[in-house]
Order: sequence, then structure tokens, then C-alpha cells
Amino acid sequence: MTDSVEMRDASSAEAVHRPAKIVRWVLIGLMTSISGALVFGYQIGSFAHPHAIRVGLFAATPLVIQVHTGFAFTAVLLGAVQLTLPKGTRFHRANGRLWALIMLTVAGLSLFIRPLGSQQQFLYIFTIITLLGVPVGVIAAALGRVKLHRNIMLFVFWVCLVAGAVFAFMPGRLLWRLVFG
Ligand code: HEM
Repeated sequence: MTDSVEMRDASSAEAVHRPAKIVRWVLIGLMTSISGALVFGYQIGSFAHPHAIRVGLFAATPLVIQVHTGFAFTAVLLGAVQLTLPKGTRFHRANGRLWALIMLTVAGLSLFIRPLGSQQQFLYIFTIITLLGVPVGVIAAALGRVKLHRNIMLFVFWVCLVAGAVFAFMPGRLLWRLVFG
């Protein structure tokens, strides 16, 4: 009885805080994009030539890179949904397992990508962190170590995945050439 009252209180408290959380994530995204645009915009503007996506170039890319890229963008979407919706629900657990599998695939496949002369070998640090961090984060959740689970998953999402996406658009790399080069 007391338990269900506490659970109800906790979920209504979560419902009250949800809009504030969404606004916080939107603000963080906006601030990051605006500061990034201000810092790099001027330099990039001088040599970036945005154009329609070169589908042919992507089609000619090795399959391992195509799958790595597709799964990585899927992980960004699922991860954003995961961070926005309430935690601890059945959906959170199912979406979290799917996200973990996709992240392991993204990182695992990256081991088979030839660096294409892009000088981005430091990205393998993200690979190692993801391959170790995701299983530890899942086990932490199963053991009820919520704070550890939260910290690891947030780190992998922001530092490995979102930063990985930003680096993927650096001049000279495939995605840059697809839209700006
Ligand atoms: C949305 C996120 C991501 C996108 C769009 C993306 C896209 C790509 C693409 C297109 C390449 C081919 C090389 C090139 O760009 O010329 C690549 C390579 C690579 N990616 Fe990702 N990736 C993402 C996230 C990640 C993550 C999370 C990791 C690690 C856990 C990772 C690790 C690597 C590594 C190690 C390489 C090979 C090194 C190199 O290109 O020099 N990527 N990625």
C-alpha cells in the first residue's frame, strides 16, 4: 500500500519534471550548435560548399562503413528518445537493450574500418570505451546500481556517440564529402 503510494508520488513527480528536462536538453543542444557555429562557422564557411547528398559516393563506400553509419545515426535517435522519456519503465528497458546492441555493433564494426587516410585513429579510444562501457552499464542496471548505470550511459552517449557524429563530419571525412566537399 505504502509502496504503491510512493511509486505514484515518484511517477507524478517525474511527470512534473519531464517538460523541464526536455527544455534542458533542447537548450543544451541549441547552445552547443550555436557555439559550434560561432567558433567554426567562419573558417568552415570559407571552404565548405553545401550541396545535395552525393548518394553515389555513399553507395560506393564499403558496406562496413555504410552499416556503421546507419546504425550510428539510429543510435543517436534511440538514445535521444531514451534520455527524454521516463526511466525504469518497460519501454526504457527494451529500448535500452536495443540501444546497447546497436552501440556494440557500431563500435565492433569500427574495428573493421580502414581509416581511409583521415588521421582519425584517436576514434578507436571511443571504440574501446564503448565496448567496455556499454556491457558494464547494462550490468550496473541489472544490479540496481542506478547512479553508475546513468553515468556510464550518459558518458557513452555524449562523449562517444554524439562527439563521434560531430567528428564524422570533419573536413576530409566521408560525411563531409557527402554534403560539403
Ligand atoms: C552518429 C555517429 C557516427 C557516425 C555518423 C559515424 C560515421 C563514420 C564514418 C562515415 C566513418 C568512415 C570513415 C570516414 O569518415 O572517412 C567512420 C569511421 C570510424 N568510426 Fe564512426 N561514426 C559515428 C559514431 C562512432 C562511434 C560511436 C564510434 C566508436 C564507438 C566510432 C568509431 C569509428 C572509428 C574507430 C572509425 C575509423 C577511424 C577513421 O575513420 O579514421 N564512430 N565513422
